[in-house]
Amino acid sequence: MTPGDSGMMPPSKVLVTGGAGFIGSAVIRLLVGEIGCAVVNVDKLTYAANPSSLAPIDHSPLYAFEQVDICDRTAIAAVLQKHQPDAIMHLAAESHVDRSIDGPGDFIQSNIVGTYTLLEAVRGYWMEMPEESRSRLRFHHISTDEVFGSLGTEGAFTEETRYDPRSPYSASKASSDHLVRAWHETYGLPVVLSNCSNNYGPYHFPEKLIPLMIIKGIRGEPLPVYGKGENIRDWLYVDDHARALWAILSKGRTGESYNVGGDDEVPNIEVVARVCALLDALTPRADGVSHDQQITFVQDRPGHDFRYAIDATKLTRELGWSPRETFETGLRKTVTWYLENNDWWERILDGRYAGQRLGSTETSSD
Ligand code: DAU
Repeated sequence: MTPGDSGMMPPSKVLVTGGAGFIGSAVIRLLVGEIGCAVVNVDKLTYAANPSSLAPIDHSPLYAFEQVDICDRTAIAAVLQKHQPDAIMHLAAESHVDRSIDGPGDFIQSNIVGTYTLLEAVRGYWMEMPEESRSRLRFHHISTDEVFGSLGTEGAFTEETRYDPRSPYSASKASSDHLVRAWHETYGLPVVLSNCSNNYGPYHFPEKLIPLMIIKGIRGEPLPVYGKGENIRDWLYVDDHARALWAILSKGRTGESYNVGGDDEVPNIEVVARVCALLDALTPRADGVSHDQQITFVQDRPGHDFRYAIDATKLTRELGWSPRETFETGLRKTVTWYLENNDWWERILDGRYAGQRLGSTETSSD
């Protein structure tokens, strides 16, 4: 590899945590499959992990897998020693807001204790490195726009927006962001952070809005829209996020954070209507009725953030990134992928998650 425009040498071996998850697997498919960078995937393989999402690259000599929990410091230290990565991309996290309402404990453990434990293991590894490699190491913490809280109808989150998390999930991610910055300020660990808006695309676990609506749509089941469906999210195709993460890791300034977003704000009810229109076109119902007749309005999510919107100007200006997909092109690709890959999601529905309502306060306990 040669130095990029920034003069920085891109990493040649990246340890990715949570690489069997939705965004993590997209990152690994990009790094191994397109960029030619070696990857060590460290994943505990919780309910949301799908090693089959890595099938396109898992035979590559550039790819290695270690089934390890980020909360296990000894095991993480051993993996670092064994593989000697020159960068860490930390994506392992509990990520589903509704599950954080039902059971916040796992979020505190994985997202806060896990990040702390990983930071300490990486700090130990970094301090033992020879000077030349030491100055090259990078710890990239991948986070969410939800740390900034909920917007009204106007404005967008910038890197300067005050943190205001409102769910157990977003509070745990905000805590992990603070830990990463503290390890930079206090110990000098070379970190970079990013906060991204809602992702969608192939291999997305069907607890999230878009894959859940596609799958329930295909199966002729009711499509549960929370409240009145007026909440707004800013959608980004997952492969565009993966490319942004590589740009930030390889060219971003140490100690900085970068917002990532698609500038594609859509109210939930419109997201579901667009999924229905695509299903009508690609797989019409036998009775000729539109899939939108399956839409049902259900009890709202407690503490439901109204709107997220990302201002990604800094990322575009400094690192030259922009998304390749619009919501229209990305959603068509996504619906088509779910129609062609039912074996991938049917295995999940048969065992790990059957599509039931999560995050209703009436059923919450921890
Ligand atoms: O903004 C980034 C975040 O986006 C990530 O950090 C999270 O990990 C990711 O889960 C996502 O959070 P959301 O809560 O926005 O995603 P979710 O797919 O759960 O819900 C999207 C919107 O759709 C939200 O307003 C709630 C609504 N919804 C969700 C489900 C599952 C429904 O109306 N019906 C549903 O069945």
